[in-house]
Amino acid sequence: MLIKRSDGLILPSDITPRAVFESRRGFIKQLAVGGAASAGLIDMASREAFAQGLNPKLAAKLNPAYSALDKQSAYKDATSYNNFYEFGTDKSDPAQYAGTLKPRPWTVSIEGEVKKPMTLDLDALLKLAPLEERVYRLRCVEGWSMVIPWVGYSFSEIIKKVEPTGNAKYVEFISLADKKQMPGVGSRVLNWPYVEGLRIDEANHPLALLTLGMYGETLPNQNGAPVRMVLPWKYGFKSAKSIVKIRFVKEQPRTAWNQAAPAEYGFYSNVNPEVDHPRWSQASERRIGEDGFLARKRKTLMFNGYSDVASMYSGMDLKKFF
Ligand code: MTE
Repeated sequence: MLIKRSDGLILPSDITPRAVFESRRGFIKQLAVGGAASAGLIDMASREAFAQGLNPKLAAKLNPAYSALDKQSAYKDATSYNNFYEFGTDKSDPAQYAGTLKPRPWTVSIEGEVKKPMTLDLDALLKLAPLEERVYRLRCVEGWSMVIPWVGYSFSEIIKKVEPTGNAKYVEFISLADKKQMPGVGSRVLNWPYVEGLRIDEANHPLALLTLGMYGETLPNQNGAPVRMVLPWKYGFKSAKSIVKIRFVKEQPRTAWNQAAPAEYGFYSNVNPEVDHPRWSQASERRIGEDGFLARKRKTLMFNGYSDVASMYSGMDLKKFF
């Protein structure tokens, strides 16, 4: 089914996953990608990209200071092996079903303990700070990892804009929960919406990335379009996808996975090879696309190798605050 967007553009990722629409290039090329390009983001090259079945390009400068040198995961793996329970619990479900998510138009409301609450649309978010490419390792709590070139900027840029009050001790990230767009939201697997949270100093750490793209393109739906967090020193579930609301709050947020299974998923969830999940070891991991099922797993590093963050937790018992 083709979805005609309010701005007149037909975004291939609105329709089908990339693999499917790539095979339909010939057909899609014939579609007139009509309507005015919105607010400068969607330039002629991007419209051509739509016509070729790609996500719109996002220009970003590599930030080597915050980029891992590990071999990057293949785009195909990063976009077909996902966790996004709003679209189902199988790794292949998000790529298969997230075509119904409409990432445009989109707004994120920023509220709570801030002097300047605001609602930002996607173009405002894209223009808020210079976009950087950062190659981050992402380690899932389930024991697999990937290395992805994300596009975005430090979340601290948002913090600067909204000016938190002295009461803002935590930040809560709330994902879209729309049954019409997200078939998994009807399930009872989690309490919807998906909620995640950080302590304010964690949210202010330069590694915390407000993410709008990957591999030089806007985010594919299955990876959390159009805007998500990426927190490379924490287990992947801390990095909420498809965010619609950000709240600065006094109390520690009640996060989705912590509510579902408090003994298994703590609030902090820093990658820690010394603290096992109650049902499995966290000492090693399998890099998707590199380590086959029979290969020896690689060692998991404390804070996923991002040792810069350690000072935020000095004096804390990380077995207790897992
Ligand atoms: N965000 C939402 N809204 N819903 C989810 O199910 N899954 C999390 C996280 N963010 C999830 C989410 C988990 S468990 C992981 S490992 C990462 O997204 C996966 O991100 P990726 O699919 O882009 O690799």
